[in-house]
Amino acid sequence: MQTQRTVESFGWQWTKQTVVDSKKTFHRRLFKDCGIWCDYLNGKVIADICSGNGRHVWALNELANAKKIISVELAKDAADYQSEKFSSNQKIEVIQGDAKEVEFKADFIYMLGAIQHVSDAEAALQNIVKNMNDRGELVISFYMVTIATTLLEPIRFILKRLPKRILWLISPLLAPIFVINRNGLEMGFKNARHTAYDWFWSHEYQRYFTESEILTLFEEAGINETNIIRLQKGLYKVRKGEGANVDDVIHSFGAE
Ligand SMILES: C[S@@+](CC[C@H](N)C(=O)[O-])C[C@H]1O[C@@H](n2cnc3c(N)ncnc32)[C@H](O)[C@@H]1O
Repeated sequence: MQTQRTVESFGWQWTKQTVVDSKKTFHRRLFKDCGIWCDYLNGKVIADICSGNGRHVWALNELANAKKIISVELAKDAADYQSEKFSSNQKIEVIQGDAKEVEFKADFIYMLGAIQHVSDAEAALQNIVKNMNDRGELVISFYMVTIATTLLEPIRFILKRLPKRILWLISPLLAPIFVINRNGLEMGFKNARHTAYDWFWSHEYQRYFTESEILTLFEEAGINETNIIRLQKGLYKVRKGEGANVDDVIHSFGAE
């Protein structure tokens, strides 16, 4: 079982520091990038796993007319923050629990920016798929093995030993690394600082995946190969249930 100690840093970061987002960026991240229209989630039970301070829970409540929104977060501070923030909303259920063990039922699940921080990604994914209704869908992002992540890892090896407040103080110096891509540019310096802190500090688990490791994870969780859609590098949408009936037989069209 993953302990509170492993997520303490997240509890501090996601409740005592600030991230900012507009509805436009939420819409891009939660709908456009996932290949779904904004009313696709209407009437469905949605879940956000490893939800941090609940920013995506908030956005889903604003942008979709879901039947219910379940938020799962292991760090107690972050889960308590959400419970308070959403206390008057009957649609939102906050569960302080481990992605590997929690039990619920949902039609559409998000797990963004998180599986790399879970102690046993295989067990977490299997449990999440178990919690999906038949034909339920999951959008999940992964930290990938890239030249950049390989080059940054030795820096993290040193920086993660610093006290959190010192790293927070120097995080503006590291933030420029995270404004050079599309998301970074869109989100601005404040979020880049948060991301820099998130990336370099001492979360006990920080893992990077290859494409083939991801496909193996899905296979082990019982996802049919034809139910896996790679949306972009490190971002996948998968569906539970029967897949398409395909084979390698070649068919000809046009003149013989
Ligand atoms: C980088 S944050 C991302 C938060 C959120 N998905 C977002 O993008 O705003 C990762 C979160 O996963 C949580 N977490 C890590 N391991 C977990 C587990 N086994 N079960 C549930 N939550 C977990 C951490 O406490 C942290 O809040």
